[in-house]
Amino acid sequence: MPQSIAILDFGSQYAQIIARRVREAQVYCELFPWDAPPEKILSIQPKGFILSGGPQSVYEENAPYIQKFILESGLPILGICYGMQALTHALGGKVDPSSEREYGHAEIELLPLRPDSGQASHPLLSALSSVWMSHGDKVTQLPEGFVALAKSGNSPYAAMGDLKRKYFGVQFHPEVNHTPNGSELLRRFAVDLCGATPDWTPANIIDDAVEKIRKQVGGERVLAAVSGGVDSSVAAALVHKAIGDQLVCVFVDTGLLRAGEGAQVASAFREGLGAELITVDAADEFLGALKGVTEPEAKRKIVGEKFIRIFEREAKNVGQPGFLVQGTIYPDVVESSGPDRSKAAKIKSHHNVGGLPEDMQFELVEPLRYLFKDEVRLVGEALGLNQGLVWRQPFPGPGLTVRCLGECTPERVSRLRAADQILLEELSKAGFLGKGAQTSQAFVVLLPVRSVGVMGDQRTYQEAAAIRAVATDDFMTADWARLPHELLAKTSSRIVNEVEGINRVVYDITSKPPATIEWE
Ligand code: XMP
Repeated sequence: MPQSIAILDFGSQYAQIIARRVREAQVYCELFPWDAPPEKILSIQPKGFILSGGPQSVYEENAPYIQKFILESGLPILGICYGMQALTHALGGKVDPSSEREYGHAEIELLPLRPDSGQASHPLLSALSSVWMSHGDKVTQLPEGFVALAKSGNSPYAAMGDLKRKYFGVQFHPEVNHTPNGSELLRRFAVDLCGATPDWTPANIIDDAVEKIRKQVGGERVLAAVSGGVDSSVAAALVHKAIGDQLVCVFVDTGLLRAGEGAQVASAFREGLGAELITVDAADEFLGALKGVTEPEAKRKIVGEKFIRIFEREAKNVGQPGFLVQGTIYPDVVESSGPDRSKAAKIKSHHNVGGLPEDMQFELVEPLRYLFKDEVRLVGEALGLNQGLVWRQPFPGPGLTVRCLGECTPERVSRLRAADQILLEELSKAGFLGKGAQTSQAFVVLLPVRSVGVMGDQRTYQEAAAIRAVATDDFMTADWARLPHELLAKTSSRIVNEVEGINRVVYDITSKPPATIEWE
């Protein structure tokens, strides 16, 4: 069991970010709803607690509160925004509505500690000056034992602490990017004050997962559906490391993949990992089922259904193993269990592999259940998975159907794939793809629109393609990427010259919202 911090979620939109920051400091942590059963929270043997922000006021009826066992545990506590107010309220201080809501950047001034502390200001805060505020209520009277650690123009208690009990409260949000060095505060709390060892490294994550997988599946055979996506690939690679040839991977080539992806998956698993991989070439089946269909939701449904039926067929062929690997990651788990996250959950309800049979008799193996996406990628790298696969852009389960607007005929899908490949080549040459690149996702969309052009003195009447490239952290909001004009020019010219049937290229300059990333 790694050393850990428990984060209590009071309904903050930033709760997951707090957890990511603590993990970035290589300290294991888990998020719990504020009212989760104590035995569940204590099962991770926390070395301290972080209380998140939240939209409510501590004096409201049914307002979330700090469970008694937390205050009785004797462990350090850090309250953020609402968490600070809840701590104040619980310990006999006072919280009042502010005359005005404070939202945005604020400067804080660190206050000197008592001379006998031997420190000028508290080490938790010393890296901070500019912070991000977002609150209505504020602390107006400190609980007993607390001192003010920082003030802002709006509040004499921008940060407070009881140094003896190691209780701290900050009115601002150290977890967001708008608070420079805020992640350092979280690291200092977890490592220096709670004494958690920063041992949550890819190597340890792998050792831990391997042990758990072995324990769970024993000597049984395990099936994994790999889609070429990062999550399903890393999950399968982890299981392979744990149980070797007890694992069978199935890869369904839907004929709706981007250029070269099928071959890359096969080589990563067969040659790279030496895993057993069954490739099912189902392009004709998928394209046959999509014949004549143009409505986006109908196309999605057909692909999802087909995937399930083919997967079932293959599962029977390998003799019905007892376990199925799934690449569920931590944000999926949190969004379906936190306090009122119905909206967030809906936006992210996409499947990696296009949905799996509900009525199949499998026990699930989910080795990434507690990992964030960036951790999944680091684990993938540490397992020696192909770089191209580990740093691959997200790709929708329904595949190119969502990028081939109108009917997905074999001819149009190939046209799209060829244009998309040119874009990827040009982006890659210019350093806009892969690890650390500014562009998070980029692809070509084929439009069911024809327009007039002229090529070599001949009139053309052909389809248009759109280039979509976005920069985003979380794919929930995104800005269109400011790709260099030269790069766009070269790509456009290559597409029109090299791809039969496209005579016009446009660039999508809409952000999300109001648009989505995919066109569908
Ligand atoms: P939108 O188009 O909703 O997409 O802005 C947000 C992100 O999700 C990806 N996406 C999907 N991923 N299955 C997936 O695994 C899907 O059905 C699906 N649809 C969209 C999209 O590529 C973008 O990264």
